[in-house]
Amino acid sequence: MRTQVGIVGAGPAGLTLARLLRAEGIESVVLEARSRDYVEHRIRAGVLEQGTVDTLVGAGAGERLRREGIVHHGIGLQFGGERHRVPLSELTGGAAIVIYGQTEIVKDLIAIRLDAGDPLHFEVEDVAVHDVESDRPRITYVHEGRPQELECDLVAGCDGFHGVCREAIPAGVLTEFWREYPYGWLGVLAHAAPAHGEVVYCNTERGFALLSLRSPEVSRLYLQCRPDEDVGEWPDERIWEELEARVAVPGYTLNRGPIAEKGVTGMRSYVAEPMRHGRVFLAGDAAHVHSPVGGQGMNTGIGDAMNLGWKLAATVRGWARPGLLDTYEQERHPVGEMVLRMTDGAYKLVMARTRAGLALR
Ligand code: FAD
Ligand code: PHB
Repeated sequence: MRTQVGIVGAGPAGLTLARLLRAEGIESVVLEARSRDYVEHRIRAGVLEQGTVDTLVGAGAGERLRREGIVHHGIGLQFGGERHRVPLSELTGGAAIVIYGQTEIVKDLIAIRLDAGDPLHFEVEDVAVHDVESDRPRITYVHEGRPQELECDLVAGCDGFHGVCREAIPAGVLTEFWREYPYGWLGVLAHAAPAHGEVVYCNTERGFALLSLRSPEVSRLYLQCRPDEDVGEWPDERIWEELEARVAVPGYTLNRGPIAEKGVTGMRSYVAEPMRHGRVFLAGDAAHVHSPVGGQGMNTGIGDAMNLGWKLAATVRGWARPGLLDTYEQERHPVGEMVLRMTDGAYKLVMARTRAGLALR
């Protein structure tokens, strides 16, 4: 089999890239290790920046996002028992953030792709990328029990932090910077109307807490915890009590409701360099992971796809000026690094009053 661009990973970065290439008339094949149901229900990001919204709308994937996304013109920062509002739109000349789950973006992009009849294979196994320094890189994999080989003009590694595409960069060439944080987030999805109008980041003596939401009926809430916290030790009642203790300010009452999902996420920051080797390009979490404290990972991944899409299209068509592909790394690596520094700074701020180990009693 042959395609113009082989894309490994059907997360936000890979699916957005596939969509942008389609808009340029470039063929791609998307290979995903997990099932469709799994990727459509993997709860992660929820805050979209203006640039992400613009990209998705511009790519023709913004219809439901525009209808159901909740526009916020500010965020809350709570410390010392007081809540302060940061008026984002006022400070940025009108830009806003939009609350719309990563799950919904993934569902929208998958539906558009499959409706168009474009190839997207789920549950592929043993994915490996070969001959990356040649003109014809190949991806081998197993699908529905049969070994497959896909010859590509270019390969995009959008397979997240645990993916395999980074392995295509030889050890002597790849440099990695990373930090594991000594805490995690216990994330909760609750069928409870959010009493907080906007996302609120809370710094307290008991640890960090984040009030977020997914819809007018669904709250998304986080508690700072140990990275190896056993979620089994967190019955619903304990979660609500701890949340109430951390987010309390006069005049605010947290709405309780049935908890539909809870899980612990360890926190790490990571940047790989280079983001390109031969004909393989890394985008999104495959190239840089940001602790969710800054709410940046998905936004940065979609930004990578936006930067890369038209450059890959121009290259496949033979229109690219010499050096065009090098600008991907030149432009996006500093963004990955900057976001890493920013989320690291946010981490230090969060931890300033709640040193590791003190996070939970
Ligand atoms: P992924 O979403 O990880 O997708 C990669 C895909 O590749 C996956 O579907 C995976 O199954 C697949 N894959 C892996 N290996 C292979 C293989 N060998 N072969 C084929 N497929 C493979 N970001 C924000 O911008 N805002 C937020 O508010 C925010 N909140 C977050 C909250 C939490 C709790 C967490 C954990 C993350 C949050 N993030 C946030 C970060 C965001 O979720 C990630 O940065 C984003 O998912 C990265 O997208 P991606 O497409 O690069 O990678
Ligand atoms: C979320 O809603 O999941 C969320 C919001 C803000 C963040 C991280 C996650 O910084």
